[in-house]
Amino acid sequence: MVSERTVVITGASAGVGRATALAFARRGDRVGLIARSAAGLEDACREITREGGRAAWRAADVGDPAALADAASGIEDDLGPPDVWVNSAMVTMLAPVAVMTAPEFDQVARVVFLGTVHGTMEALTRMRRRGRGTIVQVGSALAYRSVPLQSAYCASKAAIRGFTDSLRCELIHDGSPIRLSVVHMPALNTPQFSWARTRMERTPQPIPPIFQPEVAARAIVFAADHPRREYWVGFSTVQAILGNRIAPALLDRYMARKAWDGQMTGDVVAGDRRDNLFAPLEGLHATRGAFSARARKVSRQFAFERRPWIVAVVSAFVLTVAVFAVLGALLA
Ligand SMILES: NC(=O)c1ccc[n+]([C@@H]2O[C@H](COP(=O)([O-])OP(=O)(O)OC[C@H]3O[C@@H](n4cnc5c(N)ncnc54)[C@H](OP(=O)(O)O)[C@@H]3O)[C@@H](O)[C@H]2O)c1
Repeated sequence: MVSERTVVITGASAGVGRATALAFARRGDRVGLIARSAAGLEDACREITREGGRAAWRAADVGDPAALADAASGIEDDLGPPDVWVNSAMVTMLAPVAVMTAPEFDQVARVVFLGTVHGTMEALTRMRRRGRGTIVQVGSALAYRSVPLQSAYCASKAAIRGFTDSLRCELIHDGSPIRLSVVHMPALNTPQFSWARTRMERTPQPIPPIFQPEVAARAIVFAADHPRREYWVGFSTVQAILGNRIAPALLDRYMARKAWDGQMTGDVVAGDRRDNLFAPLEGLHATRGAFSARARKVSRQFAFERRPWIVAVVSAFVLTVAVFAVLGALLA
């Protein structure tokens, strides 16, 4: 499929954002990349243009709305107004609430939550002028089911959900043609775990099962083409979201036992470890992180998620079997 839209992506110098930029560019879309590190963005753009894609970049902190507006204007000058806007920028920190400082908590919320709000507002302003466009929020299973040691991040992801739900109601109320989709992700092998701030003894890791960031990128491209309220990627995401709806207190206990050590490798944190919480960490910008050997390249669950009719047919079949089983038992 060849597409020729302008797609703006925040957090595009690494991880999911970078994989997404590459995925859109491979289809012929013009991609505008935003993040803090000029070197990281330049490197990502080089990768895209090497493959024949068209890309432009502007360095900006998504927590700074004026800087983000300047970056969006610059990209619009280079590539045209955005047809699609993807909010993917993030930072996080691994530590119990008791040992976090207020500035650390504020910074995670400023980038993850407010960065998404600022990105969405910027996209809306530009899309309203043309009466069209699609905004994709990169969500997480942790937006529904918090884990220990990442309170600021989990709270920010849940806040994005609250913000997006409000905005969706407003767009429907106004009869706006602008579409909004949230793609909730499983654990992904990105550089996040190499540069996140931590106060723990052992180095961070994604809670298995781990997927490659290209799995997330394909889901985001699909959501931009077929904007739906939400997409859930990976069976682990479905389990976390549905499990939390059915038995939240049980999951509190499960997470307390499994998701504490589950977020750490066996390796001790180096004394000179640096992080990207308040400024970019140069030299580590890449699409994939350190867990490729354990990461899955596809999500079989998402093949079903892409085709809701399969889910409907399977659910109807299971329901029919259940009804007949109950009737059989009653009439026997
Ligand atoms: N990895 C996972 O396991 C996972 C799971 C579920 C959901 N997600 C979601 O996927 C998205 C991307 O995560 P990721 O794992 O790819 O993260 P990542 O590897 O740490 O990449 C984060 C990106 O955000 C940029 N960034 C950080 N602070 C910024 C700021 N203040 N302003 C602008 N850009 C900033 C970083 O570049 P600079 O440092 O150059 O600014 C980088 O490009 C996030 O929305 C996250 O919630 C990830």
